[in-house]
Amino acid sequence: MQYQIYFRISRGGIGIPYELAKTEFLAVFARFGLKIKRELWARRRMWLELYLLPDKVASIASDLGYTEAILHQRPEPYCGESLSPVERGRWHVGWIRQRERKVYQTEVYVQDAALLLAAAPDRRVFQVEHNGEKRSAFGHHAHRAMSTLDARFLFNIARPKSSDAILDPFGGFGGLVFEARRRGLLIVVSDIDVSLSPGLSMLASGTYFAADARSLPLPADSFDLIITEPPFRTSYRQAVMDSLAEVHRVLKPEGRMILLIAMDMREGIQASLEQAGAHVELIGVIPRGGGLKCPVLEITFPK
Ligand SMILES: C[S@@+](CC[C@H](N)C(=O)[O-])C[C@H]1O[C@@H](n2cnc3c(N)ncnc32)[C@H](O)[C@@H]1O
Repeated sequence: MQYQIYFRISRGGIGIPYELAKTEFLAVFARFGLKIKRELWARRRMWLELYLLPDKVASIASDLGYTEAILHQRPEPYCGESLSPVERGRWHVGWIRQRERKVYQTEVYVQDAALLLAAAPDRRVFQVEHNGEKRSAFGHHAHRAMSTLDARFLFNIARPKSSDAILDPFGGFGGLVFEARRRGLLIVVSDIDVSLSPGLSMLASGTYFAADARSLPLPADSFDLIITEPPFRTSYRQAVMDSLAEVHRVLKPEGRMILLIAMDMREGIQASLEQAGAHVELIGVIPRGGGLKCPVLEITFPK
């Protein structure tokens, strides 16, 4: 089957690099034996052969963050007839002309922009508590809440199994918890900031606790996957470095970590993890507001 992929160009006004969107797509679809036929990176488009029926493609694609649409293409010889494709934003549906052939294009999957917007951290309500007083916060200002699309990306890279025990020890505004719950995955979450307790306990009922990631009240070897976004500011650098050994302690020996970190912490974090025997792979770099570029690292501990 022939498909055309339209990756998202941007989210929240910030460009999404082609390679990042492609990395996510391949993390999800490569196991089905796809063959890339053509790529137009500047237009965020890719053509491929994939031996999956359109319904199956659509259901798998609905978890992607950086893919906007997938079109199914059925080519036939062109015999000079007039074609009237219908324009749908960046693409057309119906018969289109492609050199010496015509192609019938149908939308297999189109990202639901309204649904994504409603789940965005500046739209969904999160309860915080200050001086014993609870209030609703949108996109909690003191914390860099994660974009829905970035949270999807991290989970797609992580490829968790439904039986995995997952931990986010820097929960913040709950972007990763929100995504885990949306996928029906159980996630344990903690954060040092008790003002986030009402919101986090509401999102992760029964699996949230307030804690310093440098000293987690958890047994060793408990988690299959740690997926988290430690604080970015330089003032937190030492605390983040100090938390690495603790996070490693609670990870099962065959477990994995996915970290979204500040660029200027990458070298230190990588060196420290490698010293502890980890294999560290740079999966991609996510651009964020204010010109920030945030590496995503996948960490495993080979025996
Ligand atoms: C970048 S935010 C996480 C944002 C989160 N991924 C989201 O979607 O909202 C980092 C979080 O780490 C927390 N934090 C800072 N130092 C910590 C520590 N030593 N232990 C645990 N959490 C800490 C902060 O309170 C903040 O909520």
